[in-house]
Amino acid sequence: MGDCKYSCNTATETLEWIRAIIHFIKPYSFFWESHVVNFFTHRLWEAVDKEWIDCLRNEPVESLVQIPSGFVQEHWTGSLKKFITTLSSLAFPREQADLKKLLPNMQVALLNNVITQGMNQKKRHEIEALAAVISSVARDVETHTVIDLGAGQGYLSQVLSFEYQLSVIAIDASSHHGRVTDERAERIKKHYEAKMRKSSLGGKGMTIPKTVTCCVLSSGMLKTLLNSNDIDESCHNQSTNGTCPLLLTGLHACGDLSVTMLRTFLESKEVKAVVSIGCCYNLLSEEEDNAQSGFPISRGVKSTGLYLGRNSRDLACQSADRWKVMEKDACLHNFELHAFRAGFQMLLSRYFPETLAGSPTIGRQGKALRRQQNSSKMNENFVVWSDSTIGKEQVDACSLFEKFSKSGLHRLNLNQLHHIGFAGIWKEAEPFVDLIGPYWSLRAALGPVLETLILLDRLLFLQEHGDSVEAVMLPIFNPNISPRNVALIAKKI
Ligand SMILES: C[S@@+](CC[C@H](N)C(=O)[O-])C[C@H]1O[C@@H](n2cnc3c(N)ncnc32)[C@H](O)[C@@H]1O
Repeated sequence: MGDCKYSCNTATETLEWIRAIIHFIKPYSFFWESHVVNFFTHRLWEAVDKEWIDCLRNEPVESLVQIPSGFVQEHWTGSLKKFITTLSSLAFPREQADLKKLLPNMQVALLNNVITQGMNQKKRHEIEALAAVISSVARDVETHTVIDLGAGQGYLSQVLSFEYQLSVIAIDASSHHGRVTDERAERIKKHYEAKMRKSSLGGKGMTIPKTVTCCVLSSGMLKTLLNSNDIDESCHNQSTNGTCPLLLTGLHACGDLSVTMLRTFLESKEVKAVVSIGCCYNLLSEEEDNAQSGFPISRGVKSTGLYLGRNSRDLACQSADRWKVMEKDACLHNFELHAFRAGFQMLLSRYFPETLAGSPTIGRQGKALRRQQNSSKMNENFVVWSDSTIGKEQVDACSLFEKFSKSGLHRLNLNQLHHIGFAGIWKEAEPFVDLIGPYWSLRAALGPVLETLILLDRLLFLQEHGDSVEAVMLPIFNPNISPRNVALIAKKI
């Protein structure tokens, strides 16, 4: 892997990297196949080397949250250090690439306050970098027409259109997003027209992104859309010789949508380039006999017979970079909420087993509950992990657990509470609560490697197409601002 800093040049090298990952992570499937909500019910810590747990259970939280980023302490046991550092060496590097060096023809437009209206700092950073990369790739493959797939409210489409003068078709499943994009584009257009009138450049004929509402479920569907009159018209307005080369892009196109984009790139002769940034790997489909399935897509990974499953794909979305910079109190609070959520799972399995077995929405309820608790008064009150409240600690933690659980039960419409022994459940869980931090941190260290595996599968899929396709993976955003920062860029040559 030393030869390919950002991604491997050949399919053979990529496959070698993929095999090294699979070989290393397979014995640790108890980590990546598990879910922290089952921590107490399945006694998850028992699968982990006892020496590792003993080593980490008294470590300060500041050290634990560095584990997913590959940091170890000198005094830790050797096999533990090797586990963490090997994972780190197998993960794709995330420092933002020097884009100006790698894409010498790249020009970066600085975005004004009108076009960035409504964007938060993260979105602004992403759009600024991605639009510049797209415009550079578009110039390379001589296209003026960009398809923005999963365009959301059109932030990227509008910057490509107004700042880079590209013809853009913004596709999104949500008609609401389409309407917002259109209204926003009209407002921005007025600003640009006024600016151009002032500078006596005219400003007439400025085009805004064309919005299309469609839930794209396969490459066949996308190809049909790309051949439709709407898109043909936009394309031919820009074309001088009757051909319509296209560039496909998507910023954080969820789950299978990013994969559909890659398939369409290979299957459609009009699509000359693709710039894809994926997200929500948890939403990827993984069905063996479905040709449109989202993982795996390369022949190489398919041949290994690897199956990830929902928990591992969830884990691939974890961001080591976010944890690394998190304040100590926020980390402690998060571990506490994990403990409450796992305790709540115990309570459900004990008192409401049929609800637990029959409701696929409990996971989401748990997430919503954690989010709600995160912003509630409890935020100031975390005590389970507090260094200073011994004695009082257990009473407070227990009553907070009861409060957390009652709120969860209420959300699930389970209101018969008189027979529930909240204190008893917490008493059973409490001796193992301090193992959640070590367990969570070790498991989270697998996240970047699982994400790397999913991304390398996509890269390999393109490389397997042969020499006519040039593909590269580049971290184009600052990972501390936007951790899902890897762009897969491919061109037909
Ligand atoms: C995470 S958002 C990203 C939005 C936008 N690209 C951005 O970064 O601001 C994903 C978008 O993809 C859209 N989407 C998800 N699945 C889709 C599908 N199958 N077809 C079309 N759009 C889809 C959603 O409606 C949502 O607006």
